[in-house]
Amino acid sequence: MAVRIAIIGAGPSGLAQLRSFEALRRQGLEVPELVCFEKQSNWGGLWNYTWRTGLDEYGEPVHGSMYRYLWSNGPKECLEFADYGFEEHFGRPIPSYPPRAVLHDYIMGRVEKSGVRPYVRFNTVVRWVEFDPATRTFAVTVKDLVKDEMRTEKFDHVVVASGHFSTPNVPYFEGVEAFPGRVMHAHDFRSANEFAGKRILMVGSSYSAEDIATQCHKYGAQSVTFSYRTKPMGFKWPEGFSERPLLQRLVGKVAHFKDGTTAEVDAIVLCTGYQHHFPFLPDELRLKTNNRLYPLGLYKGIFWETQPNLIYLGMQDQFYTFNMFDAQAWYARDVILGRIKLPSAAVMSEDIKLWRAREEAVTNPFEAIDFQSAYVQDLLSATDYPQLDVVRVGELFKEWELHKKASILGYRDHGYPSTLTGTVAPKHHTRWMDAMDDSLKAFLSVPTAAG
Ligand SMILES: Cc1cc2nc3c(=O)[nH]c(=O)nc-3n(C[C@H](O)[C@H](O)[C@H](O)COP(=O)(O)OP(=O)(O)OC[C@H]3O[C@@H](n4cnc5c(N)ncnc54)[C@H](O)[C@@H]3O)c2cc1C
Ligand SMILES: NC(=O)c1ccc[n+]([C@@H]2O[C@H](COP(=O)([O-])OP(=O)(O)OC[C@H]3O[C@@H](n4cnc5c(N)ncnc54)[C@H](OP(=O)(O)O)[C@@H]3O)[C@@H](O)[C@H]2O)c1
Repeated sequence: MAVRIAIIGAGPSGLAQLRSFEALRRQGLEVPELVCFEKQSNWGGLWNYTWRTGLDEYGEPVHGSMYRYLWSNGPKECLEFADYGFEEHFGRPIPSYPPRAVLHDYIMGRVEKSGVRPYVRFNTVVRWVEFDPATRTFAVTVKDLVKDEMRTEKFDHVVVASGHFSTPNVPYFEGVEAFPGRVMHAHDFRSANEFAGKRILMVGSSYSAEDIATQCHKYGAQSVTFSYRTKPMGFKWPEGFSERPLLQRLVGKVAHFKDGTTAEVDAIVLCTGYQHHFPFLPDELRLKTNNRLYPLGLYKGIFWETQPNLIYLGMQDQFYTFNMFDAQAWYARDVILGRIKLPSAAVMSEDIKLWRAREEAVTNPFEAIDFQSAYVQDLLSATDYPQLDVVRVGELFKEWELHKKASILGYRDHGYPSTLTGTVAPKHHTRWMDAMDDSLKAFLSVPTAAG
């Protein structure tokens, strides 16, 4: 019987796994049977934007955490697929920081071209996975949401590609239940327009806090107060922004912070991160980690240490995204096919410890970039994934960090060279702060002399 592989999720990670096998099939090689289960009605993962929040039309938790005016927060040159560049997709160079719809179009372009859609069972949520040591197979129980039917199938390998930025981490703050305005987690944030004219409190000091705050500023928020747990972000914020230590309690509309200061606010957005959440996995197969560069329990950041036929993709905190998922998927493919042999349990355990120790030695963002570059390079060097200049990508990430430091509202106006073609991205026709229309059409339009 053919080897069967279940892939859970058709976001960038799951699609990378499909694409990795398709690349071999196109070379005329025999590949295992692939079944990708996707609970949404379309593919793209977080990039498949939804207006919905809370529960979806079937009563399932909404996966989407992306919002309407989201633009890439890193240069597209750092996430470019090595086997399908932006210039190839769009037919010409485009600016470095595309809005969500443009990145979605790019991700979709590669998979549509490679014809992997028939492997995906849409509207199908994975409910439970169980490993049977006797047969060395996984029983995967899924629910067809449209037919309202459950069924169980056997697989030799399971690839968990269900993402980890969808189940919000929601801490409690005293008095929040009596706050007279809107309180939400970043997961449910969709449109910045709602906050025009408002004084917003953002709890958290990472990417969501920074980006949702600048979006709200762009669309007319009156002021932004950040509240950090560990340390402030320290960017050169525009007027009306301030950073305070952790929120202690709310009294009516007044937020009280750890340093004794207060601020009156109209709305609260909890930008407090996400949980790795796998309700379909039993204890012995479930990854339990916070959001970090090297979670424990995964050899090469991919293979479940105690049962390596269970594979996790994209579970790390992410500088690298699409091309890192590719690097992982190509490596996983080659292990499944026996092209790469996994070492003994003792060697795997030692390797995990070494990488974790390297991760723990990281003290600043540049070192974190170097760490993830080394991780991606380690995977790439073992497979036939097309040449990716990881050293150059690492340098571009560092330039990006410096540009953010210089101007948090202006960094998206920079252009960077593609590591595939060398072409320097053209400047966008409109500065990010003035570009209110984030549609694909507006972004790709070439302004006439008349404007
Ligand atoms: C707000 C936000 C903005 C971001 N912006 C950027 C950016 O600008 N640039 C960038 O490179 N990265 C960005 N990211 C990072 C993002 O994590 C990756 O780009 C990418 O989407 C991760 O891909 P993934 O396939 O691992 O997970 P996801 O994109 O989350 O996809 C997982 C898929 O699994 C499906 N699924 C989940 N559970 C089940 C189940 N039980 N059964 C069946 N299917 C299931 C989901 O429906 C989904 O389709 C952003 C993340 C967030 C939260
Ligand atoms: N394209 C875009 O523009 C865009 C926009 C938003 C998000 N994203 C992506 O989304 C992903 C997730 O980013 P994220 O910022 O949501 O999560 P994150 O990077 O994991 O950060 C979580 C933040 O929440 C804080 N936090 C957690 N628990 C807290 C508590 N109990 N009290 C106070 N603060 C608490 C953390 O503080 P500590 O530092 O103290 O731990 C940290 O600042 C990233 O990959 C990012 O790139 C991209």
